[in-house]
Amino acid sequence: MSEKFDVKLDSKSYLPDPSVKENSWMQDYEKVYSESLKDPEKHWENVAEELEWFEKWDKVMEWDHPYAKWFTNAKMNITHNCLDRHVFNGRRNKVAMIWVGDNGAEQVITYRQLYRDVMRFSNGLKSLGVEKGDTVCIYMPQVPEQIVAMLACARIGAIHSVVFGGFGAKALHSRIKDAQAKIVITADASLRRGKRIDLKSLVDEAVVNASCVEKIVVLRRMTPQMELFSEIEVDFYEIMEDVEKECEPEIMDSEDPLFILYTSGTTGPAKGIVHTCGGYMVGTYYTTKNVLDLKENDVMWCTADPGWITGHSYIVYGPLSMGATILISETTPDYPDPGVWWSMIEEFDVSVFYTAPTAIRMFMRMGEEWPGKYNLSSLRILGSVGEPLNPEAFKWYYRVIGKEKCPVLDTWWQTETGMHMLTTAVGEPMKPGFTGRPVPGVVVDVVDENGDPVPAGTGGFLVIKQPWPSMMRTVYGNDERYRQYWTTIQNYYSAGDLAVRDEDGYIMIQGRADDVLIVAGHNIGSAEVESALVSHEAVAEAAVIGKPDPLKGDSIKAFVILRMGFNSSDKLRLDLMYHVRMNLGPIAMPSEVEIVDSLPKTRSGKIMRRLLKAQELGMDPGDVSSLED
Ligand code: WT7
Repeated sequence: MSEKFDVKLDSKSYLPDPSVKENSWMQDYEKVYSESLKDPEKHWENVAEELEWFEKWDKVMEWDHPYAKWFTNAKMNITHNCLDRHVFNGRRNKVAMIWVGDNGAEQVITYRQLYRDVMRFSNGLKSLGVEKGDTVCIYMPQVPEQIVAMLACARIGAIHSVVFGGFGAKALHSRIKDAQAKIVITADASLRRGKRIDLKSLVDEAVVNASCVEKIVVLRRMTPQMELFSEIEVDFYEIMEDVEKECEPEIMDSEDPLFILYTSGTTGPAKGIVHTCGGYMVGTYYTTKNVLDLKENDVMWCTADPGWITGHSYIVYGPLSMGATILISETTPDYPDPGVWWSMIEEFDVSVFYTAPTAIRMFMRMGEEWPGKYNLSSLRILGSVGEPLNPEAFKWYYRVIGKEKCPVLDTWWQTETGMHMLTTAVGEPMKPGFTGRPVPGVVVDVVDENGDPVPAGTGGFLVIKQPWPSMMRTVYGNDERYRQYWTTIQNYYSAGDLAVRDEDGYIMIQGRADDVLIVAGHNIGSAEVESALVSHEAVAEAAVIGKPDPLKGDSIKAFVILRMGFNSSDKLRLDLMYHVRMNLGPIAMPSEVEIVDSLPKTRSGKIMRRLLKAQELGMDPGDVSSLED
């Protein structure tokens, strides 16, 4: 794997309006970066000093490959930094959160109100028997209560495991069971394009054979109110009623777990990525400030759902630890029309806007007239995450949305990294197609399979050479899988992405080195889709691949072998697509199913998805020496 990539550089690089850099937190990227490398621990310690701790650390970092501890023996609570710190330091009546519902409903919540709600919900959870170290699964639509639930868990030291509300019952079930969730917090329904999507009935299905679950907390937002039947169901607001108003934050050790978040892998079930309190707080705070350049008067809108790491880090913990105003919304980008997001930017004076390439490409298709109807002059910073921001999309975003004034930050990172790792710092020249250079304190390289750096212009594996504060600490219940990240390529953390670097050190991400699919910015494991297919009575074996899709990044194509007695038909193919949709949710639904007689396998019986993909796309299949047949 060291073929020469033809890196076609757009001869032009792009700059934002100089005033953006003049007023930015990080004035001189190169200086800050090179200083951070001289003493990375000092770099991160200085960041930690900006936050409040109940007790300071003994050591900034302890590294026993592949295990890192950050801010050892320090005591803190992330919600103290996201709430109390602001409520008692002049931001009491500042707006913490503006919420816009699918039906146009609005809610504005100050820091004081959020603080109060979180404390009462914390006490409500305690009244249900939730203790420090227990796992709580949160499966909710994008409403303020979803964030209240997350913060309440963090306040009492319970580990939250947020499952994206678009996942189906089977995906939810496996995540509940794997994390041994004691409580599931959900809602009766979510709203999407004016339609009600029932969540509670999916929870009912998901908790069958999950005896770990003791209580289900239900936010009832619809009228008439749905009835809560069994003894294990309780109402979200009722548990907040007869409890104390105050709830002191639990004293957490820096290395206590904060949350588990599942991400899809290439083999087996989704991996429960474990993040801890102190390092995660420092990493997300630092990058919110220095990458997204968030300021006191900003209104930040990250369009992700808190069910993904993007939402955890850049809707909830990063911006709230900075005391910012966040906008959250249940809206879909094209409902009631493709102008709705731009109208919200105008209406709420959004200044920092963070979204995904798939959304940008959708807007490109809809035409410039939609954003053209609105005044977008409040925007200062534009960001993108989830998959490569292709040059066409970059240019459109820069010109049509940013009016050639805003930096467009293509941020590369992962659920596992917790925070931004690569991007182009505010005010630095931006190169379309490239994410950029490492965030200060982060040491990356592009290497061959032996871990030796490859020259500029040559493709290789993206690795991270040194620990960083918000790195994952383990894979829940599968530490061996965790160790693999740090042992596959030398002693480095291997990201699983292919990359190429240019002469200036800018990095271009070229896609995954494994079988993870990125559908509309969401990481979908081929294994999970295959196992959903095989759970259908007609399917004997299945393999799925990603096909490049102009809008979604990847679209999913499934190859299936039928069981005896079943015959191929259009009806069956449709049935299989819907079967996956029902089990895993709409994002994981294959857009194509092909019925085949056999699948290419290695001698050890592993399906060679790479070969299927090469055939499908008419590409060179590469090395096929391990093919069985
Ligand atoms: C994978 C991580 C981090 C939040 C969203 C996804 C891909 C992410 C970029 C980018 C090219 C990107 C990578 C990465 N990815 N951002 N800016 N350019 N690729 O988190 O679900 O953990 O997925 O998403 O392949 O490894 P995730």
